[in-house]
Amino acid sequence: MDRDNKVSITVIRRLPKYYRYLGELLRKGINRVSSQELSNMTGFTASQIRQDLNNFGGFGQQGYGYNVEELHTQLGKILGLDKVYKTVIAGAGNLGQAVANYKGFEDAGFKILSLFDKNPKLIGLKIRDLEIRDVDELADFIVENEVEIGIITTPKENAQEIADIYMKSGIKGIWNFAPADLKVNEDIIIENVHLNESLFTLSYFLNNKSDYVNS
Ligand code: NAI
Repeated sequence: MDRDNKVSITVIRRLPKYYRYLGELLRKGINRVSSQELSNMTGFTASQIRQDLNNFGGFGQQGYGYNVEELHTQLGKILGLDKVYKTVIAGAGNLGQAVANYKGFEDAGFKILSLFDKNPKLIGLKIRDLEIRDVDELADFIVENEVEIGIITTPKENAQEIADIYMKSGIKGIWNFAPADLKVNEDIIIENVHLNESLFTLSYFLNNKSDYVNS
């Protein structure tokens, strides 16, 4: 890939969807797919898909389409899913425990090492085989275990203090579920998950059905 030409964020946000559909095709034993078939599955136009994938090199062959396994593997590499990321969760309440309980993240290479909380009643409990530790130990734990990703599932009032701990202990990326606009150094990648915004979008479309395009 030409690193001088940055790939646009909208293209990057479509890649996980391609990856997911290709994974489904693989599981069904389908080993060849056209951009038109991918278009029918994803809702993006065939030319959009070809353009998107061309950003990363020509994977398809005219008259053949794409080799599913190869494209899935290549997209996995592009998305960095061929690695294992050590991860921690700060805030072991409802959402933190739900994230820890979902084995799918680990299967995709996001290995959760531990949860951290400040509530003494939670410290020492286990979610699956993952211990909930005192948040006072968070910084040392990150450094000792070379943790790369920090998840934030604390209330929004506490989210910045967790982000500060993550920053000073060398976390590279933050997956933030708290509805807070966090201030972090430029070298930290932050991805916000605002479930409410998605729900409110659903609500909009329920009330404005003619605007709805299935994506
Ligand atoms: P919760 O109240 O069940 O859990 C929050 C946990 O964070 C508690 O265990 C609390 O002791 C801990 N905590 C507070 N300050 C801390 C600190 N400084 N260090 C370590 N731990 C600390 O809340 P819930 O429902 O799990 O929500 C967590 C966050 O996710 C909130 O910001 C919420 O707005 C957001 N969220 C939750 C959703 C949900 O479905 N529960 C959906 C969307 C967003």
